[in-house]
Amino acid sequence: MEKLNDDLVKHKDYVYAKEFSTAELIDSLQTFEIRDSDIFLVTYPKSGTIWTQQIITSICDQEILDVYKNNLEKMPWLERKGEGRDYSLRPSPRLFASHLTPALMPPGLKTRKAKIIYVMRNPKDNVVSYYHWSFNWAALNNPKSFEDFLDRWLEGNVCGASWFNHIKDWHGKRDQYNILFLTYEDMILDLKKAVTKICCFLERDLSEADIDKIVEKATFKNMKHDPKANYEFIPEDRVKKGQFLRKGKVGDWKNMFTVAQNESFDQIFKGRMKDVPLKFIWDIDQPLY
Ligand code: A3P
Repeated sequence: MEKLNDDLVKHKDYVYAKEFSTAELIDSLQTFEIRDSDIFLVTYPKSGTIWTQQIITSICDQEILDVYKNNLEKMPWLERKGEGRDYSLRPSPRLFASHLTPALMPPGLKTRKAKIIYVMRNPKDNVVSYYHWSFNWAALNNPKSFEDFLDRWLEGNVCGASWFNHIKDWHGKRDQYNILFLTYEDMILDLKKAVTKICCFLERDLSEADIDKIVEKATFKNMKHDPKANYEFIPEDRVKKGQFLRKGKVGDWKNMFTVAQNESFDQIFKGRMKDVPLKFIWDIDQPLY
């Protein structure tokens, strides 16, 4: 797989992959017109984005055009460069995914009418998932080692910039937005509860049978083989096949962190998250589905 030398760009405290976006495009979002019916899924990378994308697109499936071939077309990335970016032509409700920070998002979101679902994941599993992912996406240089990647992640020199700042920024500004916070771990613990929560937040009144169908479509094993959801439609010279859904577990960090790395991480976490009223689940027994 061809690797770029200069894979990342830093812009206004945010970091994106050169292959994915441009500073001009990100800046242009300051005049992006928001509709009250817009729905945004916002995450720090590797937090369960395509999982939640599958849930939201399934919830809204009856309302959106049936011309879209996959979840990426149904819910495009707000900051992704490429063709078909004139979203003003899209019928409502428009669905978008984004990894951006609040300052870079369209200011119209602050009317608190359009809805944002923000999904976060415990940072140890996040960095492990991210480390593995870095070998799969051609746009990113291969990490030299986990140690090296962990340092870069802690410094925020990865796409999405700093996990700590992303979470703190969105959570700290929650009163400015119409936003629902969910965690990856909540979804693992009780997927049906998470889907029901998302339905309520989106004010979509689905029957229990419909919710059950969405849950079934969003399980790891079903999504892994769902060509509209598993991102195998991305050309193989950009992303290795089958890598968007890797393990789908809570606690995989234990297979990667050394005792010393774990102790040092806990110290850093304690310091950087000391004023943040959020609790993370670091390990659980895996669900039955
Ligand atoms: P792992 O690498 O730990 O397996 P994102 O979509 O934000 O890039 O997040 C990717 C992570 O979400 C990967 O984690 C992937 O396996 C996990 N994931 C995707 N779909 C999932 C599902 N249906 N159930 C559980 N985890 C899922």
